[in-house]
Amino acid sequence: MEGSVRIRVNLKSFSYPYSNPILKDIFLEVKGGEFLVILGASGVGKTTLLKLIDGLFKKYEGEIFLDGIEIRKLRPKEIYRKMGLLFQNPEEQLFATTVFEDVAFGPRNMNFSEEEVKTRVGEALSLVEMSDYQECPISHLSYGQKKRVCLAGLLAMGHEILLLDEPTQGLDPLLEKNFLNLLLKLKKEKALTLIMATHQVDLVPYIADKVAILHNKTMAKIGTPHEIFNDPEELEKYSLRLPSIGELFFEVWKKFSDGSPLPLTVEEGKTFLKKKFHPLS
Ligand SMILES: Nc1ncnc2c1ncn2[C@@H]1O[C@H](COP(=O)(O)OP(=O)(O)OP(=O)(O)O)[C@@H](O)[C@H]1O
Ligand SMILES: [Mg+2]
Repeated sequence: MEGSVRIRVNLKSFSYPYSNPILKDIFLEVKGGEFLVILGASGVGKTTLLKLIDGLFKKYEGEIFLDGIEIRKLRPKEIYRKMGLLFQNPEEQLFATTVFEDVAFGPRNMNFSEEEVKTRVGEALSLVEMSDYQECPISHLSYGQKKRVCLAGLLAMGHEILLLDEPTQGLDPLLEKNFLNLLLKLKKEKALTLIMATHQVDLVPYIADKVAILHNKTMAKIGTPHEIFNDPEELEKYSLRLPSIGELFFEVWKKFSDGSPLPLTVEEGKTFLKKKFHPLS
């Protein structure tokens, strides 16, 4: 399914019961194998949008399609065979008593043999570096460990599409790096399709193919990281900022720019310096 549109959102309006509209006029498409990052101020509706895409809300104006079928026409089983949501708050996701039981829940529900379930749980816990915690009670885990168990639960099911709500919140820098490398590896090897909400703009240029900005209940902008991150004043209006590497290079890039994009990653920064200041190369 790489390259074909897997998720299409044409949302006219969504409100929670007894509230004013939270989201309006949002159109976006995500192709197989693509990584879309959703950015925006706290409370703008990122979590709500991910839950809508996952088919958790039925009452909205407009349409949301998974592989060409309106999500409200699909049964939960048909959705979770293809797509899984990592909740922002792990407490919303975890419910079993031990780590093993929690991660095993999804594969068991997909009717795998108990042997296959054990293999999948073992592999998924190893990927998130939680192999030693299989028998640990969920209540004994730290926040970051709970996030990793939630992710293992999704990985054990082998979804083709992952919706990730602030997945790196509460992880230490090394775990964060390993986690993002894991996502990029899965994307490359298994053509995983990823939609991720985050506040961590520094990470975005390393992972995203496309970035969507939510602002004032709607989608203000969508584009590649370089199309999104080049104007600090505009970003401030959306309660965002340039990634740190972009901030570092912004003034000198504006002065010397030959039309090449603002460096946003360490590698892009090094290439820019080598091009502009030959003695350093
Ligand atoms: N169950 C609910 N009932 C009513 N209003 C809700 C509910 N959940 C969220 N909201 C409101 O919807 C709006 C969007 O919330 P949402 O959690 O989607 O924002 P967010 O962009 O994910 O924020 P954050 O960055 O803090 O996670 C907020 O104004 C919030 O108060
Ligand atoms: Mg949120």
